[in-house]
Amino acid sequence: MRLKDRISIVTGAAQGIGAAIAREFAREGALVAALDRKGDVEKVCEDIRCKGGQATGYVLDITDQEAYRSCVDRVASQSGRIDTLVNNAAVWRPGDIFTDKLDEWREVQKINLEAVYWGCKLVAPHMARQHRGRIITITFGSGVGHRWRCRRLCGGERRSGQLHEIAGSRTCDSRRACQRDRSGFHSYAHVNREWS
Ligand SMILES: NC(=O)c1ccc[n+]([C@@H]2O[C@H](COP(=O)([O-])OP(=O)(O)OC[C@H]3O[C@@H](n4cnc5c(N)ncnc54)[C@H](O)[C@@H]3O)[C@@H](O)[C@H]2O)c1
Repeated sequence: MRLKDRISIVTGAAQGIGAAIAREFAREGALVAALDRKGDVEKVCEDIRCKGGQATGYVLDITDQEAYRSCVDRVASQSGRIDTLVNNAAVWRPGDIFTDKLDEWREVQKINLEAVYWGCKLVAPHMARQHRGRIITITFGSGVGHRWRCRRLCGGERRSGQLHEIAGSRTCDSRRACQRDRSGFHSYAHVNREWS
């Protein structure tokens, strides 16, 4: 078990890639705090527990800074530490500069960028105190592309990549990248080399 007893927060864990990460982390022995604004996250955790894993669901919107803070505080006070944060929750709103509405663009920034920054800020003091920790951010192919019709997402996620360079964390560039790496994650430095 590669993640035995690691306290791991996974955002956007009610479905899709986030749910798969939560399940896999639990299978590897992690104690998973699964966050999502959808109540389905409870079902994912129940299923993990039925299979012998450990997972607790938290229903919240990660753009609600106080709700996110109190969730991280609860995880930290119950477990005494936070080992991993997986910034997975994101939204995809196809559009372009001609048809985008500013409010929609702002919503994407709030979820895909600001909440990622806030999550890092909340867990960083715990990781610094422990002298260890991992922050993993899932991004999207469009975030590293140059098709200007995809720029709305690109603006958010590409900058979130830069955030992670600062945080020294590891990031997953795309599903294809994940499949190439058995551990599931590529280092940001590697992804960055691919960009240049
Ligand atoms: N699906 C793909 O083909 C693909 C490819 C490359 C990268 N990605 C990336 O992988 C990640 C997950 O993708 P997915 O396809 O599983 O997405 P998804 O839409 O299936 O799931 C995202 C989850 O995040 C949750 N979420 C969104 N905003 C939230 C908020 N403000 N607060 C709390 N929870 C919130 C949603 O409720 C949902 O359960 C994303 O970061 C995405 O950019 C996806």
